[in-house]
Amino acid sequence: MKFTVAIDGPAASGKGTISRKLSEYFGFSYLDTGLIYRFIGLKVLSGFDPLEAIEKLNYHEIEVDGLRTEAVSKAASQVASDRQVRDALVEYQRNFSRRCGGAVLDGRDIGTVICPNAEVKLYITASEEIRAARRFQELSIKDKDLTIESLISELRARDLADRERKVSPLLKAEDAVLLDTTELSIDASVALAVNTISKAIRLST
Ligand code: CDP
Repeated sequence: MKFTVAIDGPAASGKGTISRKLSEYFGFSYLDTGLIYRFIGLKVLSGFDPLEAIEKLNYHEIEVDGLRTEAVSKAASQVASDRQVRDALVEYQRNFSRRCGGAVLDGRDIGTVICPNAEVKLYITASEEIRAARRFQELSIKDKDLTIESLISELRARDLADRERKVSPLLKAEDAVLLDTTELSIDASVALAVNTISKAIRLST
């Protein structure tokens, strides 16, 4: 079966956690496209040319360690505004989305650019305060110097850059289902998404 779930939304909206849980629930493959941009951002911080980094990229060997820092988030967002970088990543993401057995992809332009024909599109969001609080909880375990104020300004700056860039800006696809998780637990959010996807699977078979 080929079935694509395209998930987009602003920084720290919970899309990664929800995507992973959905992929486990339905037995679909999962691609965190943000990790790819983070990996290239890290390479650029280490002095590499982004396009060369993509040529040498082995998608199965992206090490998650060290990719979630504020510096890498910023570098990822900067590199993600480069049209050549984005173009070089399209084919891999599209192939992934049509693999047999179903796929969940999350990012910023999955429903709009990468998979405009996805069977299900979700746009996951939450208030800025909640997103910052969730990300703080996740990152402050490792980074004792992190402050909520610096995190809020990093998220705000990154969302603005992601929304206003010319190439593939962060945008809700017209046909995406909006899921605002501000007042929902992760489990409640996943349950709503499971309903939407289950209905679409029934319609497609
Ligand atoms: O986890 P968080 O939502 O904070 O970010 P992420 O999904 O890991 O993405 C990091 C950065 O990569 C974003 O701020 C975007 O600039 C960029 N990105 C993108 O442009 N397109 C995607 N499909 C995924 C990420």
